[in-house]
Order: sequence, then structure tokens, then C-alpha cells
Amino acid sequence: MSDNQPRTVRIVPSGPVMVQGPVRIEMPDGSIVESDRFMVAICACKRSKDYPFCDTSHRCKRRAEATAKASDKRSA
Ligand code: FES
Repeated sequence: MSDNQPRTVRIVPSGPVMVQGPVRIEMPDGSIVESDRFMVAICACKRSKDYPFCDTSHRCKRRAEATAKASDKRSA
């Protein structure tokens, strides 16, 4: 990829921010985290055990919400 080409960044609703790699992430404590993957999922929910990368932990809350909604519909 040329430096003149814009990178694609895609925000996944209730999920990660997908960024075209490779990436160099500067953490709040000043440390640097790098990934050379083609597409990198950056955690936006802060529940990932592999933060700053997404480990799909965001899905747990969504699954719990879906289960609660289904339960509400059954009891209505
Ligand atoms: S966005 Fe996926 S674990 Fe946080």
C-alpha cells in the first residue's frame, strides 16, 4: 500500500474497529503494540483479554442481551 492511499477503517456496530494492517498502536502508557496482519480488529469495548486487539469478548454481552430479549418475549 502506498502512503498516499487512504487506509480503510471500518467500525463494526457493537464490535471492534477494523483497520487495514500492518498497524502500530501507541498505548496510553507509551508502550507500542504492533500487528502485521492484513486486517486488524481493534477492541472498542475494552473487554478483550488480548487488548488492544479484539478477542470477540464483545459478543458475550450481545449474546446475553439477545437471550434476555427472547426471554422477555416468551414471558409477555
Ligand atoms: S470489540 Fe471485540 S472484544 Fe472488544
